[in-house]
Amino acid sequence: MKTALPGPFETIAVNAPADHVLQVTLNRPERRNAFNTQMAEELCSVWGWAAAVPAGELRCLILTGAGDKAFCAGADLKERKGMDTESWHAQHALFERMSYNLMALPIPKIAAVEGAAFAGGCELTLACDFIHAAETARFALTEVTLGLIPGIGGTQNLPRAIGARRAAEVLTTGRPFSAQDAYDWGMVNRLTDSGSALASALESAAIIARNAPLAVRAVLAAMDDGGEAALPNGLAKEIDCYRPLIDTEDRQEGILAFNEKRKAVFKGQ
Ligand code: COA
Repeated sequence: MKTALPGPFETIAVNAPADHVLQVTLNRPERRNAFNTQMAEELCSVWGWAAAVPAGELRCLILTGAGDKAFCAGADLKERKGMDTESWHAQHALFERMSYNLMALPIPKIAAVEGAAFAGGCELTLACDFIHAAETARFALTEVTLGLIPGIGGTQNLPRAIGARRAAEVLTTGRPFSAQDAYDWGMVNRLTDSGSALASALESAAIIARNAPLAVRAVLAAMDDGGEAALPNGLAKEIDCYRPLIDTEDRQEGILAFNEKRKAVFKGQ
C-alpha cells in the first residue's frame, strides 16, 4: 500500500499482511479483546482511513482478535460498570458508528475467528461480509442475559445469515453455539483447524486482491440493497452498480488481458 497505514494505536494493531490487504487485530487479550471507548474510537479512525484510500490500493480487510482465547468478548463490561445512562447512550452511539462504518466500507471484510465471539464480538463478525472460523471457535449473542439486546447490527445481520427461526432461538436464549453449528447454518463460510482461521482468511483476501477492485466493490454494492429488496428493485440496483464499470480502464484491461492470454493488471480506475 502506498498510503501510510493509520496509527499508532493502543487497543488495536494494524498491518498489511499482503498486497492491498489490511489486517485489523483487536488487541486487548487480557480482556478477551472486549471493545471499550478507546478501541471504538481507534476502529472508527481506521474505517475513516480505509474509506478514503483509493480503490486500487486497499482491496480487502481482515478483522481478527489477538490470541487464541477470543475474537472479541463484546463491550467492555468493566468499563461499563456503574456507567450512568447519559454516558451509556453516548458510548453506544460511538459503538454504532464503529459497526455501521465497518459495514459501510465498500471493500470485502473477512472476520477470522479463534475462540469466543460473544455479544458485540459476534455482531462484529456478522458486520463483516463473511467469516472464517477455527473449529474450536464459539459464538453467542448473550445480550438478553444482561438485560440488553444486540445493538450494533446483530438483530438484522443474524437472521439474514442463518434465517429468522434459528436467529430467534439464538437471540432469545443467549446460548452459545459452536463454530460447527455456525458453519452448518450458513453463518461461517469456512471451518479451519484451530490456529488457522487467519491464514485461511488471508488466502481468500489474496485472491480478492488480485481481482478488479472496482468490480469487487460494485458486486458488493449490488448485493447490498439488492438482496433484501423486491426483485425489480434489486435488478435496477444491480444495473446501477454495473453501468459505471463499463467506463473503467480496468474493464478494458480485463478484456484485453483475456484476449492476450495474460494476467490482467488492475489499477482501480
Ligand atoms: N468486558 C470486560 N472484561 C471481560 C469481558 C468483557 N466483555 N469478557 C471477559 N473479560 C475479562 C474477564 O472479566 C477476565 O478478567 P479477570 O481476569 O480480571 O477476571 C478476563 O477477561 C478473562 O475472561 P474469562 O471469562 O476468564 O475468559 P474465558 O476465555 O474463560 O471466556 C468469554 C471468554 C468471552 C467466553 C467470557 O469472558 C465471557 O463470556 N465474557 C462476557 C461476554 C459477554 O457476554 N459480553 C456482553 C457484552 S454486552
